[in-house]
Amino acid sequence: MTVADQVFGYYMPTVNLMGPGSVKEVGEQAKGLGATKALIVTDAGLNKMGVADQVKEIIEGAGLQAVIFDGAQPNPTDLNVEAGLKVLQKENCDLIVSLGGGSAHDCAKGIGIVAGNGGNIRDYEGINKSTKPMTPLIAINTTAGTASEMTRFCIITNTETHVKMAIVDWRCTATVSINDPVLMIKKPAALTAATGMDALTHAVEAYMSTIATPVTDSAALMAIKLIAENLRTAVANGENFEARNNMAYAQFLGGMAFNNASLGYVHAMAHQLGGFYDLPHGVCNAILLPHVERFNLISNPKRLADIAVAMGENIEGLSVRDAADKALDAIVKLSEDIGIPKGLTELGVKEEDLSIMADNAMKDACSFTNPRKATKEDVINIFKNAL
Ligand SMILES: [Fe+2]
Repeated sequence: MTVADQVFGYYMPTVNLMGPGSVKEVGEQAKGLGATKALIVTDAGLNKMGVADQVKEIIEGAGLQAVIFDGAQPNPTDLNVEAGLKVLQKENCDLIVSLGGGSAHDCAKGIGIVAGNGGNIRDYEGINKSTKPMTPLIAINTTAGTASEMTRFCIITNTETHVKMAIVDWRCTATVSINDPVLMIKKPAALTAATGMDALTHAVEAYMSTIATPVTDSAALMAIKLIAENLRTAVANGENFEARNNMAYAQFLGGMAFNNASLGYVHAMAHQLGGFYDLPHGVCNAILLPHVERFNLISNPKRLADIAVAMGENIEGLSVRDAADKALDAIVKLSEDIGIPKGLTELGVKEEDLSIMADNAMKDACSFTNPRKATKEDVINIFKNAL
């Protein structure tokens, strides 16, 4: 099947604010949505640093009330969603404002979906399972990044099965997304590295996806270029404002690409590592990315050659096959330069768990658009290569 014989949808938030100082607009945006009381969903760290209070003040300054729920954990769970929903209902909030990286936004989306539709967040695993609008959401992003502030993906860990549920639903898209690089300045180097590699993985998987379109391709290639040019600098010196601003745009572009072209086996497999061992998403992606794309190489070497060019590699005089290799080398080099662990063993991943994780990866919604079809054996081999 090609682009010419399929119908494609394109999804993103209605309003998207970028650039320094954009967080100050949150109050007016909340007022514009007709809300009276906001539930600020964040994590304990940002709350302790006083960032949630700053956002609360801005919202109150616009004449609304606001309460803070800081129970969004890294790899947020169904229990986090339940706890946040209780606060939203008890406080009669008619708006959710998420503040953080992926975890806060995903937790907020989960709360909003269940508030609007009833039941338990586990009922919404899969594609477009909700039938009613969720509580309106303004998502303020603080990392670059998952792009969860602007996507329709909501990843919640099922605490019974330890599987990360992929809830892919256009109704859980934020109405307003805010990317203010000022909020990203203080992030530690290791977090900058991991989240930056997550953004790179979004762009690469979207570009390699079986449902990529010219629209998603343009976003993906620009994201890859900006990450190759700015991630090292952002890791080396977090206060380099230009690098931070460019990374904010890059992660947003990566989101524009994968929100519509979806992803592939890097994410399908990383979700299992996150659910099973509670490992950081970006680091899992970074380690798996070159191994999955080496497996994907024969499906579309021309696209990998394009990625090599976007990453600044010189492919002049090379065959397409050799140029594709350059992309894999460039990804490994970037990971090494910014201090990403070399393999999954360093993270405590055990060979005896690979079989069950391979089974679950093959069921993960992200695997469906991977350009090369994989058997369970293939997935286990990719995991082994990444150990
Ligand atoms: Fe991701």
